[in-house]
Amino acid sequence: MQKLLVKGKKVLSGVVQISGSKNATLPILAASILGDKKIEIKNIPLVKDVITMTNLLKYMGSNININFKKRKILIHNQKKKLKTIAPYNFVKTMRAGVLVLGSLLARFGKAKVSLPGGCAIGTRPVNLHLFGLKKLGANIKIKNGYISAEAKNGLVGSKINFPSISVGATENVIIAASLAKGVSLLKNCACEPEIKNLTNFLIKMGVKITWVGKREIKIIGSEKLRTVSHNIMFDRIEAGTFIIAGALIGHNLKITNIEPKVIGRELRILKKMGVKLKTKKNEIQVFESKNIRSISIKTEPYPGFPTDLQAQIMVLMTKAKGISKIKENIFENRFMHVSELNRMGAKIKILGNLSYVYGPQNLNGAEVMATDLRASVSLVLAGLIAKNKTHINRIYHLDRGYEGLEKKLRKCKAHISRIYN
Ligand code: UD1
Repeated sequence: MQKLLVKGKKVLSGVVQISGSKNATLPILAASILGDKKIEIKNIPLVKDVITMTNLLKYMGSNININFKKRKILIHNQKKKLKTIAPYNFVKTMRAGVLVLGSLLARFGKAKVSLPGGCAIGTRPVNLHLFGLKKLGANIKIKNGYISAEAKNGLVGSKINFPSISVGATENVIIAASLAKGVSLLKNCACEPEIKNLTNFLIKMGVKITWVGKREIKIIGSEKLRTVSHNIMFDRIEAGTFIIAGALIGHNLKITNIEPKVIGRELRILKKMGVKLKTKKNEIQVFESKNIRSISIKTEPYPGFPTDLQAQIMVLMTKAKGISKIKENIFENRFMHVSELNRMGAKIKILGNLSYVYGPQNLNGAEVMATDLRASVSLVLAGLIAKNKTHINRIYHLDRGYEGLEKKLRKCKAHISRIYN
């Protein structure tokens, strides 16, 4: 098992180039099944989840190739019949595997996809995905841990009002509706920037998609799709993570390859906490930020504060004067990093979906355990500001979603290394 070793208190400086977004790449890869023309996807992040998704597509018979050097993926499924099965071993490690349900159904009229099951941060059901696909005319049964879906005569456009907001369900249904006959009107959709990246990709492919309201999308299904070349947007969670690293222990850290306006809410919150930032068109400079103030935040669907940045901002809150509060509204069990941060000297209490962070506290290095992707990176951040050494176990979570994290940190003078046992 690999570990990370962080020697804390080293000031970060230099430039961090943010990679393409994992959460934008995965649905776009799932949507690639829809067409039979050439597809080029650029600025992909080289992370485990993206590799797993390409392996799933390869297993299904897709003609897909990654150019690691150029960070792009080429796909050409010329008149190809694909396997319509997504087995458990792919979907268990990466929930986004369930996104091929919509594209397989739309293109081939049937799909058998493993139920993703729960994970560390919560139960994570797929009822909203199935609700939307049923409205498009799919017959769906669940048996032996698999979702079996069929639409013998193809999917048909429909009005769908999601009972609650889900990123994955919105994506699955957008993808499915792209080949459905007629018009679909989707209401109460998630409107994360990654979903806009997906709709832009589909629009370029020839699907008529219009965002008619903030959470409302009109889709006119298309029979024939075109060849497409598409750029993956920047990873806003990776950007937020490095901005917080800069605020914690940076001296003039520059974060590049981003669009600051996409993370406006996060930047406003950080500025309110006293983080010193200078924003340009495609970069942010983070200056030494000494007097951090406490704050109350809640996680919400976009444009609210992202749950994926909750663990990281909590580390910054340990440095804030006073009591900070976080209300986690998205996942029921997403405070697993708290006990590990407390072992490093933080003073954080949990009450249901609320956590109270008492600051400022000095952190001390310790042996800690990563529990999920974003929790893992919060422990890295904690290690960077802690006295002495921090060992972070179970870092395979990190590799799922952060491209070359240690390399990027080392380039900014952090003392961090990977230990291979
Ligand atoms: C996506 C992101 C993940 C992020 C999350 C919330 C990807 C690959 N992952 O996950 O990083 O943390 O959005 O921003 O993009 N729910 C249901 N039924 C469903 C689907 C979801 O009840 O059918 C619930 C979930 O349990 C959760 C909430 O809805 O409480 C939001 O989940 P959702 O937006 O679907 O998250 P994901 O798409 O899985």
